[in-house]
Amino acid sequence: MPVLVREVVAHLLTGPSGMIVDATLGDGGHSLALLESGPPRLQLIGIDVDPQSLAAAQQRLAKFAGRCSLKLGNFRQIAGLLATMGVSPVAGVLADLGISSRQIDLPERGFSYLDEGPLDLRLNPSLPQTAAELLAALEQDELVRLLRDYGEERQARAIARAIVQQRRRQTIRTTTDLRLIIEGVVRGPHRIKAIARVFQALRIAVNDELQALREFLTQAFDCLAPGGRLAVISYHSLEDRIVKDFFRSQARSCTCPPELPVCVCGRQSLAVVLTPRPITPTPEEIAANRRSRSAKLRVLQKR
Ligand SMILES: C[S@@+](CC[C@H](N)C(=O)[O-])C[C@H]1O[C@@H](n2cnc3c(N)ncnc32)[C@H](O)[C@@H]1O
Repeated sequence: MPVLVREVVAHLLTGPSGMIVDATLGDGGHSLALLESGPPRLQLIGIDVDPQSLAAAQQRLAKFAGRCSLKLGNFRQIAGLLATMGVSPVAGVLADLGISSRQIDLPERGFSYLDEGPLDLRLNPSLPQTAAELLAALEQDELVRLLRDYGEERQARAIARAIVQQRRRQTIRTTTDLRLIIEGVVRGPHRIKAIARVFQALRIAVNDELQALREFLTQAFDCLAPGGRLAVISYHSLEDRIVKDFFRSQARSCTCPPELPVCVCGRQSLAVVLTPRPITPTPEEIAANRRSRSAKLRVLQKR
């Protein structure tokens, strides 16, 4: 079941009619719900950077083949992708960030620390560097920064030191190799969180996820028609902060210092934030799908 699916459908299908872009197609769950719930004329473009996800979505959306067009690509190039298809402006854009349950469940992708697999973590398998290669290449200080900046991990320094010591003895190749190193450093209840944070940090770095998100938000907003909506589901605070700040910056009008008697900047608000507080899953949804527990949906409407 796609995360916050009713809420996504409600927000995207009440905007202006027209093309909707699912910029993180995954297995096509949100796209399917939009096509099933929307009017028969609704057209959809689906984008995913992972060829396996695209293939899965193609199968799932087969009955809507005439109404959707699925593209392999990174959403950080959404403007170019839509331009090459001759599509713009659009009525709505959705991004359900991160990785899908199917990707997590494939040990050979290396996304899950619970399963033994190669330490890969690339969303796009043609990216040049896997997580194992990145771990082998970084200096200890760079590792500390990566774990702090992208994992918000308190024990970043100790974990980085242990990684460097271990890789002198033996190449770190698998998810288990890395998990065991972290378990050797972090004891007690913080241990699982630390492992999750280290994997998150590596995934963000390998895929340049935060910069891709910034580029996506700017371009997606530019591609919207007046009244069009941008809906983003994030799963951790680093992503959510970027989305929240971007939405606020688009909605902000005058930025003059308060001591000025009249506005001199002339800045007009470009958008309305439809979710002053993010929408989160109900306890029932979390009980049915534990992976939804950290989801936050924010929606912005272009003026
Ligand atoms: C959480 S899943 C989406 C699940 C989907 N909403 C569904 O209902 O099945 C996120 C998907 O976004 C893709 N993805 C992540 N970053 C991307 C990017 N920068 N560009 C395009 N796709 C991306 C991943 O490969 C993954 O398939």
